[in-house]
Amino acid sequence: MSEDLEYYKAKYKTLEDLPDIGPATVAKLKEIGFKTVESLGTAAVAELVAAGIGEAMAEKVIEAARKSMAITFVRGDELVEIRKNVRKLTTGCSSLDRLLNGGIETQSLTEFYGEFGSGKSQLCHQLCVTVQLGEAQGGLNGSVLYIDTEATFRPERLMQMAPRFGLKPEDALKGVVYAEAYTSNHQTVLLENADEVIKENNVRLIIVDSVMSHFRSEYLGREMLAPRQQQLNKHLHKLMRLSRAFNTAAVITNQVLASPDAFFSKAVSPTGGHILGHMSHSRIFLRKGRSNVRIAKLTASPSLPEGEVPMRITERGIESDEDF
Ligand SMILES: Nc1ncnc2c1ncn2[C@@H]1O[C@H](COP(=O)(O)OP(=O)(O)O)[C@@H](O)[C@H]1O
Ligand SMILES: [Mg+2]
Repeated sequence: MSEDLEYYKAKYKTLEDLPDIGPATVAKLKEIGFKTVESLGTAAVAELVAAGIGEAMAEKVIEAARKSMAITFVRGDELVEIRKNVRKLTTGCSSLDRLLNGGIETQSLTEFYGEFGSGKSQLCHQLCVTVQLGEAQGGLNGSVLYIDTEATFRPERLMQMAPRFGLKPEDALKGVVYAEAYTSNHQTVLLENADEVIKENNVRLIIVDSVMSHFRSEYLGREMLAPRQQQLNKHLHKLMRLSRAFNTAAVITNQVLASPDAFFSKAVSPTGGHILGHMSHSRIFLRKGRSNVRIAKLTASPSLPEGEVPMRITERGIESDEDF
């Protein structure tokens, strides 16, 4: 196991090991999706209280979980140390890696948005392969948790991409933990119960492709907007917390809407409103160019300048002319 994962591992191996915790509390915690000490460390007291755990107990167990894995206030210099654990995952496409200054970061949320056929799912497939590579090759030496809301994941396509990265097609499939989400609620519940799966399978990348499709089709009309955004907020927070707790990369894809005020240009914006906008640390817009060319544009980043690069979707996967 790599050093950075060791760092994130809590001192207590299981919930039962936490001090002064009874079996009833353990059972309740598991029921509401906190099956590991690591994920409990990112829980809120109110969440536990809502499930019927007393406030004092809730505070105590969260505190113990946090302390055992150093999630607390830190000084700036300590933060630099913690940030040292952030890893970058190669996209397998040189131009895109350059745009992202090396790749997709762990412990944060990266969003790819664009119209139908712009290559979002293709990129997700490729990340399923690259995450399995060793660190020297830009991978994270781990597996991927793939939540598919549009039923577009194709194992055959993954197998087709694997050889370029030196992986055997059958081996590449073994590194994917897959779940199809049938509704927005199912999608949310899958993630809420993912912590054990993440830990047991050494998951280093979580993909939700696509994050908004169920939410958009189920919550129709103006009066549904507030409850939709509330559910979405909860879902994204859970994703963010899992990514922090287990030092994984988190990738979501999103569709686009034509901007009503864009009269002459073909301006588009990602769906999901402000909540998604605030939660996504990095946002990359994908658009179609000629034939198999796609343009990736970095439109939001906490530390990188905006910019854009070309790439291609080929039989081998997503690549740039520099990769030949
Ligand atoms: N095996 C392949 N070889 C070349 N191009 C492919 C292959 N599979 C899919 N594509 C291309 O990928 C594009 C679809 O991208 P996709 O990622 O599904 O879009 P979306 O953004 O809607 O998720 C299509 O243009 C399709 O031609
Ligand atoms: Mg897609």
